[in-house]
Amino acid sequence: MKVTVVGAGNVGATCADVLAYREIANEVVLVDIKEGLSEGKALDIWQKSPINLYDTRTIGSTNDYSKTAGSEVVVITSGLPRKPGMSRDDLIETNAGIVKSVTENVVKHSPEAIIVVVSNPLDVMTYQAHLTSKLPRTKVMGMAGILDTARYRAFLAEALDVSPKDIQAVLMGGHGDTMVPLPRYTTVGGIPVTELIDEEPLNKIVERTKSGGGELVKLMGTSAWYAPGSAAAQMVEAIVRDQRRVFPVCVKLEGEYGINNCYLGVPVILGKNGIEKVIELQLDEKEMQLLKTSEGHVREVMEVLDKMS
Ligand SMILES: NC(=O)c1ccc[n+]([C@@H]2O[C@H](COP(=O)([O-])OP(=O)(O)OC[C@H]3O[C@@H](n4cnc5c(N)ncnc54)[C@H](O)[C@@H]3O)[C@@H](O)[C@H]2O)c1
Repeated sequence: MKVTVVGAGNVGATCADVLAYREIANEVVLVDIKEGLSEGKALDIWQKSPINLYDTRTIGSTNDYSKTAGSEVVVITSGLPRKPGMSRDDLIETNAGIVKSVTENVVKHSPEAIIVVVSNPLDVMTYQAHLTSKLPRTKVMGMAGILDTARYRAFLAEALDVSPKDIQAVLMGGHGDTMVPLPRYTTVGGIPVTELIDEEPLNKIVERTKSGGGELVKLMGTSAWYAPGSAAAQMVEAIVRDQRRVFPVCVKLEGEYGINNCYLGVPVILGKNGIEKVIELQLDEKEMQLLKTSEGHVREVMEVLDKMS
């Protein structure tokens, strides 16, 4: 079983590495436009196999999509990352063209593939992949929620001095400052988080989560890759192993939450058919208001894309 990762930069190479060392696929094809980059990284990951003990084959390709033919899942990470001072939306012009041409090549060689988009601005690049591929919403999705909840869970684990494994959380909305963390749906080993932490420090963690990507851009001069690459690999695993995991995923809403034709992060069941089900939470008035604000922001950027094409 073959998985392709397009973009052999920081996020793509990390995703390919996780897919290989966790043996999530038999074959991982890494594609990049930069001559030799994907071949080099694929070879490096393969040379790690005797040390880390895995047998996933990793293959690199400079823009030759024939090597990706018949992929079950394709992860798209190609495109510019943020630099300090930039918002994710600033990337739209360059990245829309890249995601469009990559998606054309992907569907030409793997018409049955499920597409997981990572490139930013995430929600709108997922929309772009949908417009280009014309695939149903079950098969084109974006990765952001797993990363954003992971940041939230990691901050909470630190504050409570507990294992991050025991923190369960869900987060909704677009991948940006308007994302909607949901403390009401956050538990620590089954205990509602509000019983373990006061409102003020919890609010601080929510705010830090919203700007969690920006915090890393400021520190490193570019955006994060270990957690994003691992998050994308976790989505691939849920699909190829038909795990029916419950994750926040960016998907086209078709009436859920009273929202139509907009790409937003919501909890879904992820399995062999891609989005198996969109889960509708019973949001309270304030949570719904926050989701609507996030929807408004994503729609503005979707309109920018519509005007470009
Ligand atoms: N969704 C998320 O949560 C999330 C998190 C982190 C990063 N990102 C986004 O992921 C993208 C990649 O980030 P990165 O840090 O890996 O960047 P990077 O610059 O390290 O890697 C991007 C790679 O894409 C390649 N590329 C460009 N055009 C291409 C094309 N037409 N075909 C194939 N490859 C092409 C580049 O050569 C480069 O190697 C960015 O848009 C970034 O904003 C999203």
